Amino acid sequence: MGVGVLGTGHYLPTKVVTNKDMEKLVDTTDEWIRTRTGIEERRFAEDDIDTSDMAFYAAKQALEEANVTVDEIDLILTATVTPDTPFPSVSCMIQERLGAKNAAALDVSAACSGFMYGMITAKQFIETNAYKKILVIGAEKLSKITNWEDRSTCVLLGDGAGAAVIGEVSEGKGILSFELGSNGAGGKELYQNEQDMLVMNGREVYKFAVRQMPESTMNVIDKAGLKKEDVDYLIPHQANIRIMEAARERLEISEDRMATTIKKYGNNSAASIPMALSEAAKEGKIKDNDIVVLVGFGGGLTWGAVALRWGK
Ligand code: ACO
Repeated sequence: MGVGVLGTGHYLPTKVVTNKDMEKLVDTTDEWIRTRTGIEERRFAEDDIDTSDMAFYAAKQALEEANVTVDEIDLILTATVTPDTPFPSVSCMIQERLGAKNAAALDVSAACSGFMYGMITAKQFIETNAYKKILVIGAEKLSKITNWEDRSTCVLLGDGAGAAVIGEVSEGKGILSFELGSNGAGGKELYQNEQDMLVMNGREVYKFAVRQMPESTMNVIDKAGLKKEDVDYLIPHQANIRIMEAARERLEISEDRMATTIKKYGNNSAASIPMALSEAAKEGKIKDNDIVVLVGFGGGLTWGAVALRWGK
């Protein structure tokens, strides 16, 4: 048997904020944001919507799509840097709201790589036969830790949630290889300060990401015994179009075979990858038997990548 994705879901806040809107908040321009980052607009959650609300909606959609009942869920893993509260965890809140009475619950803290860490943690529990079905969520309300006086970060971020039900799939399908990594020495380049605001040294994070993302992508392809020509679709963490392009160019795949939700949603940290995965699946961009590579990086510093064969 393999371990793979049984269903996906995502939630998008309704409030759309364009680059022109951002021009009214800070000293920036639509042109600067577009050319430096690839972002055109982002979504912000309303005041009465918190991370757990978005996580809940995404999770419900993933369960429906997977045709899995809440009672079948053995574990809930939510990747987030913006939980409603440090504790109880968002996962416990979801457990209660879903009524998932057989599920254990914990949050995963690996910043923008969190969904990759969650997915690989889920894989281990399923492979050892400890659990059968695990709900992995990436959800962020980054607008609540955004420093609205820092133009170099506030224009980048957006809110949202994505989820996947992970479980057994047929032999040869599902996760073929993975890579996870960390370098705590780089923690000072991207962190939450005492005022609870996100602080980033953009240039240093850029240098790390533009090297790490193509490298991790190639590593999981090699580990899976594949060649770069075998990859049908690439889903990179949506942090900056230029960083994503570096991975795409290394793979030598056409633009239409890479998810670019950054244009519409900005950087959603741990939610970026599952949102893009869910959207790609729903839009038919990934099909049965396709080789899909997911690759993320973020605060910690952390990184993670997965090569999988899509389908059950
Ligand atoms: N509008 C206009 N000018 C700006 C803005 C803005 N919003 N932000 C910065 N600038 C200015 C700077 O002040 C600087 O001006 P100066 O030269 O007079 O000092 C100039 O633009 C260039 O600044 P740089 O920081 O060199 O710009 P760069 O091309 O590196 O782009 C960016 C900045 C977009 C942040 C880039 O460094 C980047 O994408 N880094 C990686 C970010 C990332 O991947 N983060 C991932 C983790 S964060 C998370 O996921 C939650």
